[in-house]
Amino acid sequence: MLPLLFDHIGTSGPMPFDDFMELCLYDTDEGFFSAGGVRPGTQGDFVTAPEVSPLFGELLARWVNRVRDESWATIEIGAGSGALLAPLLEAMPDTSAFVVERSSSARETIGKLLPSVAIADSIVDVVAPGAVVILNEVLDNVPTALVRRTDRGWSEIAVDVDSGALSLVEVPPRDVAVEWASQHLKDTPVGAMAPVQIAAGALVESILDTFDEVAICVIDYGGSGTELAGRPDDDVVRTYRHQRSGFDYLAHPGLTDITVDVNTDAIAVLAERFGAKVEVTTQRDFLRSAGADEMLSELRSSEIAMARSGDVMGQLKARSRTVELRALLDPSGFGAFKVITIVRKRDTTP
Ligand SMILES: C[S@@+](CC[C@H](N)C(=O)[O-])C[C@H]1O[C@@H](n2cnc3c(N)ncnc32)[C@H](O)[C@@H]1O
Repeated sequence: MLPLLFDHIGTSGPMPFDDFMELCLYDTDEGFFSAGGVRPGTQGDFVTAPEVSPLFGELLARWVNRVRDESWATIEIGAGSGALLAPLLEAMPDTSAFVVERSSSARETIGKLLPSVAIADSIVDVVAPGAVVILNEVLDNVPTALVRRTDRGWSEIAVDVDSGALSLVEVPPRDVAVEWASQHLKDTPVGAMAPVQIAAGALVESILDTFDEVAICVIDYGGSGTELAGRPDDDVVRTYRHQRSGFDYLAHPGLTDITVDVNTDAIAVLAERFGAKVEVTTQRDFLRSAGADEMLSELRSSEIAMARSGDVMGQLKARSRTVELRALLDPSGFGAFKVITIVRKRDTTP
């Protein structure tokens, strides 16, 4: 990876951050998601909500059933190990399911775990009258440009070579970055760095372009433009490797996850422009509206019933599911994640 970067920068000059992130995460041979196995999971580099509990996929299935027409396809983009899709499909086995996944190791794992699921190269290859599309912790991994607000406007962050090492430098911004920043980063104070999430928006746009009738569920860490404005640089771009944060991505490109918070306002504005109804909520509220509270009471009742009947294993299983579900709802953890639902259906009123 390093010789490739040094050569490229040596020939073309500083590399925009989105191009750097693309190489680090998705380079076919050495990108973080291409090499070294499936990344999410307790044995992997970070734990996502579906890796915490199958109840996440089970609850999401309830939302899918509520919004979809039965003829629609269910598509998961960036499905990782399949930990969300497996329980979701168990809860709704009648659906035709597709996965679109950039990581070859993830595609291989899903192919073994869920042989009935079709793996598509792109969303446009899915032929269906409509679709429910799920993206859990995906948009944060879509390569992003970076800008910094200056007292004269915006500069762009790029990666350069300095004394034989990679470093971040500020360069004159591309027009597209300035246009996006001027629209979505109004609250960013002078001196602060912020992501310019053009490609994440384009991914959502491609879904809305592909299906007339569609329901999209984006679950990710993030916030409104105002909530995200003015964070320190090392909180704007974060890294995860071997369940720890803070790995130096410039010293070891390709060996760590690189991720940013999703600007929920920017996604909402884009989807509304495409005629969709958008709601932004927290994971806690979303799961509660899908029935998490009732699920907690059922687990409690089943734990008591198992204890009374002397089924110790059953009792322990119910208790551990309760602990998992509480973690998914935790307002200072997964429960604080943002959920953006984007729904566009044909008006069937006479
Ligand atoms: C942080 S992992 C999340 C995996 C899984 N959704 C989960 O919650 O455990 C991000 C995944 O999204 C995939 N990904 C990122 N951008 C993608 C895109 N544009 N299309 C398909 N997959 C993508 C990556 O390859 C990676 O497997």
